[in-house]
Amino acid sequence: MSIKSTNITAVAHRVPQEERWRAAGHRGGVLWFTGLSGSGKSTLAFELEHRLFAKRYNVYVLDGDNVRHGLNSDLGFSPKDRAENIRRIGEVAALFAEAGVIVLSAFISPYQRDRDMARKAAGAQFHEIYLSADVSACEQRDPKGLYKKAREGKIPDFTGISAPYEAPAAAELVVDTANESIEACVEKLMAYVDEKFGFTQG
Ligand code: ADX
Repeated sequence: MSIKSTNITAVAHRVPQEERWRAAGHRGGVLWFTGLSGSGKSTLAFELEHRLFAKRYNVYVLDGDNVRHGLNSDLGFSPKDRAENIRRIGEVAALFAEAGVIVLSAFISPYQRDRDMARKAAGAQFHEIYLSADVSACEQRDPKGLYKKAREGKIPDFTGISAPYEAPAAAELVVDTANESIEACVEKLMAYVDEKFGFTQG
């Protein structure tokens, strides 16, 4: 993306990141969920948010369907619009993370290049989490009836049907939402957050 703003100077914060983390009792960062529609991104993200909050983590879900009602309501589902969707969310997630929050982002984010851009924005505290349910598993569930509509040709560029999904080449964590229960997936994610973001750990 071309940079239009000129004559701008970045200003440093006077609160060191380590101090922010120490005050919160955990690191900030991004758990970037990616997977097909119906793979369980929103279900897992909101359940995890609920449980982490109960453990006193500062945590917040950024969810595709929600963000597309507001910040990104001007964007559709062409590759260009999806790239801009993910670019904005990547930047927002990075800001939340810098402020000390654990962001759970739930977007299909089908293109590796766009996810890599989000990773670049957030830096070291970015964790790509692949929900590996394939098209047939998601289509069987079809919680919003969207696969049916897409098959009938009523939704153009539908991920997995008429638009591509690029599975992550090197996700930090793979969660098999097609074969494991929601509870097992949440347990796995809770352990991952404790390990990676708990302040006493490496
Ligand atoms: S992304 O590809 O740009 O990352 P995002 O996660 O924001 O997508 O939005 C996906 C949600 O939009 C889906 O869960 C579904 O409810 C809805 N949706 C509407 N049209 C499409 C489409 N063509 N492809 C995928 N999802 C769609």
